[in-house]
Amino acid sequence: MSADLKKRAAARALDFVEPGMRLGIGTGSTADEFTKLLGEKVAAGLDVIGVPTSERTARLAASLGIRLATLDELPELDLTVDGADEIGPGLSLIKGGGGAHLREKIVASASARMVVIADASKVVATLGAFPLPIEVVPFGLRSTLLKIEKAAADLGLSGALTKRTTADGGDFVTDGGHLLLDASFRRIPDPMSLARALVEIPGVVEHGLFLGIATAAVVAHPDRIDVLTP
Ligand code: A5P
Repeated sequence: MSADLKKRAAARALDFVEPGMRLGIGTGSTADEFTKLLGEKVAAGLDVIGVPTSERTARLAASLGIRLATLDELPELDLTVDGADEIGPGLSLIKGGGGAHLREKIVASASARMVVIADASKVVATLGAFPLPIEVVPFGLRSTLLKIEKAAADLGLSGALTKRTTADGGDFVTDGGHLLLDASFRRIPDPMSLARALVEIPGVVEHGLFLGIATAAVVAHPDRIDVLTP
């Protein structure tokens, strides 16, 4: 069911794509559905160029024959299509469940528009049930973790900060060579204050709160598709 909904959201997002566009291409299982459908369009003659948000997406898109560029080659994009872990009020997002939110945020911010694609389970009244991914540099990890705990406590937030690991128990290392802490705050009533506090901490590279970035969300329900705006 969920896989079908992801595919339907991805298919609807293709309506936003126009010939000649410079596209940011997202990461995750929903974004993969979009990439596959985009690959079919490209095979049928659609001319677009894509900037992938992860090495994983780059491999998938290249295998489908989608023309790719780096963000340095194309520093301004028309549209990014990407998934999300949670969609909250005003199209505030939690992203980074796949560990790609740093590049995802850079690419989305370089785009005139960002369309989020998701199944309806991702829509929430308050962000935070999904643990917030926080990308940190390995140096001074313990010190950075304590600072995050303190900043969160100042905002009335608490919960486990867990270093992300891989299936074999090793550290999960991002495409940028950093580590991830997943913060189980459960509820983040004031995401903007948390976002501001996190970027003040030197060891924090980027967090998974996307605020004021998404311009639309295509949300697939079993019986309909909603296109939400902020
Ligand atoms: C990748 O780092 C994430 O930001 C994904 O966009 C997010 O985790 C959504 O993934 P799914 O579409 O697989 O749920």
